[in-house]
Amino acid sequence: MKFTIQSGAAEKQRCECAVVGVFEGGQLSAAAQGMDRASKGFISALLKRGDFSAKAGETLLLHALAQAPAPRVVLVGCGKRDEFKDAQYRKAVAAAVKAARAGGAKDAVIYLTEMEITGRDSRWNLRQAALAANDALYRFDQLKSEKNNARKLAKVVFNIASRALKSAQQGLREGLAVADGVKLAKDLGNLPSNVCTPSYLAAQARGLQKQYAKLKVTVLEARDMERLGMGALLAVARGAREPAKLITLEYRGGAKAGKPVVLVGKGVTFDTGGISIKSAANMDEMKYDMSGAGSVLGTLAACAALKLPLNVVGVIPATENMPGSNAVKPGDIVTSLSGQTIEILNTDAEGRLILCDALTYSERFKPEVVIDIATLTGACVVALGKHPSGLLGNDQPLAAALQSAGEESGDRVWPLPLWDEYQEQLKSNFADMSNVGGREAGTITAACFLWRFTKKFRWAHLDVAGTAYQTGNNKGSTGRPVPLLTQYLINRCAKQKVASRK
Ligand code: BES
Ligand code: MN
Ligand code: ZN
Repeated sequence: MKFTIQSGAAEKQRCECAVVGVFEGGQLSAAAQGMDRASKGFISALLKRGDFSAKAGETLLLHALAQAPAPRVVLVGCGKRDEFKDAQYRKAVAAAVKAARAGGAKDAVIYLTEMEITGRDSRWNLRQAALAANDALYRFDQLKSEKNNARKLAKVVFNIASRALKSAQQGLREGLAVADGVKLAKDLGNLPSNVCTPSYLAAQARGLQKQYAKLKVTVLEARDMERLGMGALLAVARGAREPAKLITLEYRGGAKAGKPVVLVGKGVTFDTGGISIKSAANMDEMKYDMSGAGSVLGTLAACAALKLPLNVVGVIPATENMPGSNAVKPGDIVTSLSGQTIEILNTDAEGRLILCDALTYSERFKPEVVIDIATLTGACVVALGKHPSGLLGNDQPLAAALQSAGEESGDRVWPLPLWDEYQEQLKSNFADMSNVGGREAGTITAACFLWRFTKKFRWAHLDVAGTAYQTGNNKGSTGRPVPLLTQYLINRCAKQKVASRK
């Protein structure tokens, strides 16, 4: 799909499909007004008759509208004018491209991008439009023998006021790079675990290294991890035939001595639970247990594509969690890379075991901040549902920056308390700590466990169990939190720029 920007009047731009916004109550966007004038009031008459509700995300395809410059004109509902905000805008853009594709158009001009959204500029409008459009058009049919080869929408043009062209261009560039990162994360998530193994993730990382000169990849094997003393990560890997990998991606786009942002992504390519085996229902969804890893790969790809002027390191502990005659057993005690010992009371709490060693490993990069991303607890889905990712950590400014990047990108997070009091739940009679904290506050005790390995740096933890993928009829990876992480990094670059001017 090709995405471009242009600036023109809706009633004059020739194309296969023109998409204009209308509001509830019969109000028209500027572009819809233009079409309405050209068609001698056809659209306003239609709305007056009550033929279209204009609720956010509803569409109506008009064929052969008299005097229109396009054989197809799509009306997109934007809801009530004073409620037209971020979420309604994204919904409208997603509906617009879907309607254009379903209508059979090969190209479409979308006029929603020129609409005013309170508090947002054209750069934001375009960034979000690129993301919403790509998200809506995404399909995963790599593994279907019959591809969907209906007539293809091949080109989308976003229309924008001419004075805003420069900022819109920047927004589109960002949006497309992030969308590519999201697509990578989605594809990796959707691939089944017999394809997307730890070795496959390592090969993907090496593929990115080939693509981008400033990206360096190293992969540690089990014997390397043994030498280092990663007893917690290796305990999880024991039950699997598939070899575990510790993948590191170093993107050096900033100053040589600039401390990096380190992103640590949980890469359990399939989580059976191990000896503490999970029940059968929906176990297939545990192929998504490497979504944190996928988001790290997607974010690093976006950083490299955008040539962001900062240093970012990705660390991905990758393994399966399998039962087997060599698997770790409940009650086993292991020594982590940090030297702290762990009694593994439940082998299904494996994410924290691989993350704790990866977090300790991150110290060697002298990080500015460390952010880990993990489908860590079912409890997070119970607490927050599927809208925000859970946010915990040991640094308030970092948490605030992530929360605001979440609002800006629409890929939101919500804080949970990380308090010392919860640490008691991790007490073990036989080791420094247990790997589970009981029934109460499961997301918080999981974060408390990680907290014990993050004392040497500023750190945030994102529990994406509810947000990384959708279940049910729309089962599939969301590519989250790639939009959040890239927005956070883009904002860091902007801050850096302001600081250097002072
Ligand atoms: N990968 C799961 C968490 C998960 C569950 C993600 C459901 C998405 C949907 C994780 O490894 C796990 O099994 N966590 C356990 C922890 C428990 C044993 C303390 C859980 O959440 O039940
Ligand atoms: Mn598990
Ligand atoms: Zn897991």
